[in-house]
Amino acid sequence: MKLVNQTQAIELLTTNNLVIIPTETVYGLGGDATSKEAVEKIYKFKNRPADNPLICHFYSIDQIKEYIIELPRFALELFNMFSPGPLTILLEPKDNRLIHATRGQKFVGCRIPNNSETLSLIKKLNRPIAAPSANPSTKPSATNAEMALNYFKDLPGGVLESTPSTIGLESTIIKIENNTVFILREGSIGEREIRSNPTIKNVVNLNKSKDVIPGQKYKHYSPSTDVVKLDDIEQLPPNSIVISTDHIPSSQRTIVISNSYNPKEISKNLYKTLISLDELATDTVYFYIPELFSDTASSSLEKALRERLSKVLQPYAEKK
Ligand code: TXA
Ligand code: MG
Repeated sequence: MKLVNQTQAIELLTTNNLVIIPTETVYGLGGDATSKEAVEKIYKFKNRPADNPLICHFYSIDQIKEYIIELPRFALELFNMFSPGPLTILLEPKDNRLIHATRGQKFVGCRIPNNSETLSLIKKLNRPIAAPSANPSTKPSATNAEMALNYFKDLPGGVLESTPSTIGLESTIIKIENNTVFILREGSIGEREIRSNPTIKNVVNLNKSKDVIPGQKYKHYSPSTDVVKLDDIEQLPPNSIVISTDHIPSSQRTIVISNSYNPKEISKNLYKTLISLDELATDTVYFYIPELFSDTASSSLEKALRERLSKVLQPYAEKK
């Protein structure tokens, strides 16, 4: 793959080839959602299990309406509040056009990403773009063009030129049933943000339950290096590398993931930091950000960060 502009990207998509699309959450490995050939390429390039459905990306609420039976009132209100943005809603398709992306699921995941290049690409294509996160299965999602190019350099297609993802964590996935909003995957929009709509009384977080979405049963986000969570900086072994928010004098090297404790900056930098560990000549890196695990760290973004990190971090006791 190589960097491409809008014109080249359209040319690729209309000929059933793939384009990596920038979004505010993470980059996506995209293809025309209505094309069997394009969608099959996504599964092949990503080595993705065939039963794991793909989120479809639209440029407007009106475009979503063309593909689904109806937009329930809460879905419309939440899209109005948070779109374009990091919110995916499962909705019932009205016909077979998105069948390649849904993999036998009853609903299709619909999202309007907040990236102007990608929105204008979808608009020009005049069809939704199906895209999973741009990473080989089990690797952290790409959050900038360089990561995407490194992952997929030997494959045909393009990476649409843009800036790095501003959020850095995948979208919140919800479904709406019986006037209840179910959170299936946590993201920067959480219970608190959804409840800021006063007509929505019932919000249930199912993220902790197993198998609420197909993708959850697969391993995620693992760098090849062990990342060990420290609760006490005194536990840091001599000559170690540590990921933290400020320079740690007792470390051999500190990878500063954010300047002082800033959850937005941590999430923006998380995946790029994790993938950079593979370049280090060490098996183990330590992770010391105690504020993120304190009782006061209760924002939706902090919760989503802890959820992603729970798939990466090993406890210190097990490491010893
Ligand atoms: O922020 C995001 O959501 C990014 C960007 C590119 O939009 N996309 C993303 O896609 O994270 P992916 O494929 O890495 O994760 C999507 C998750 C998977 O666990 C999948 O199983 C689930 O959403 N999913 C997608 N469509 C679904 C559907 N129709 N029903 C149930 N789960 C679905
Ligand atoms: Mg993914």
